[in-house]
Amino acid sequence: MQLIQSPDEILVKVKDLKKKGLSIGLVPTMGALHHGHKALADQSLEENDITITSIFVNPTQFNNAEDLARYPKTLEADKQKLEAWGVDILFAPGENEIYPRKPTIKLNFGKLEEVLEGKFRPGHFNGVGIIVMKLLNLVLPDRAYFGLKDFQQFLIVKELVSNFSVPTEIIGVPTQRHASGLAISSRNQNLSDKGLEIAANIYQGLNLARELILDKKGIKETIRLTGQFYDKVDGLEIEYFEIVHSDTLLSEQISEDSPLLLSVAGYVENIRLIDNLYLQPD
Ligand code: PAF
Repeated sequence: MQLIQSPDEILVKVKDLKKKGLSIGLVPTMGALHHGHKALADQSLEENDITITSIFVNPTQFNNAEDLARYPKTLEADKQKLEAWGVDILFAPGENEIYPRKPTIKLNFGKLEEVLEGKFRPGHFNGVGIIVMKLLNLVLPDRAYFGLKDFQQFLIVKELVSNFSVPTEIIGVPTQRHASGLAISSRNQNLSDKGLEIAANIYQGLNLARELILDKKGIKETIRLTGQFYDKVDGLEIEYFEIVHSDTLLSEQISEDSPLLLSVAGYVENIRLIDNLYLQPD
């Protein structure tokens, strides 16, 4: 696997690959790689001639300095994993190379960024949008892969490429889970064994909500009963649990035959975790 740290160098490299007619898949990450990232890399390896993984812990998408400081940084272990997975190129730039100066642009994704994560993490999606745009411009991928655990991020990135006519196909890859059901996340590395057990209830709650909806309990009652379930879990502090239309992420636009997103965020041992379930009407 080739390691490239300079933006100029990656651009020269990908232009050369493209001249040779090779397709490029990008797996953008912030490192602390796990099985979820492997699923993204596997799909990219299958669908492209060359797979490039980027590792960059993007400061502009953290609206909380403590959260950024706590984010696990494990570059050496990550490199070994990427080698073993068969990734062709690791692009791991430094902060000064990516942000030689503070970005002046402000992206506005309208309603899409005002709900769910956007409501609790002001500025987060502006930071995500800017770094993703930079990575797409530096790597020129045919396809880019994003985990559906961050469903709102996936919709935001699709909106970004649509607005800027970026010729990259944005592909969502299903959430990978531990045997307990807990969504695999880099943040799980900061949880104790007890914390991991508690965190598994996040997915139990989503499953309960799915059952309630399938039992035709209605959205309001489902939210009430799921909230009751979460309230009883010691050590879990839910920030939000919402049921929204999966295209718009708005709750007002739900009808009987809407595709739904059941979306939750909460804290365990001071670590912020998110998860969701997509529900297609029958
Ligand atoms: O999902 C992530 O890991 C990050 O938000 C991303 C897409 C790599 C941008 O920093």
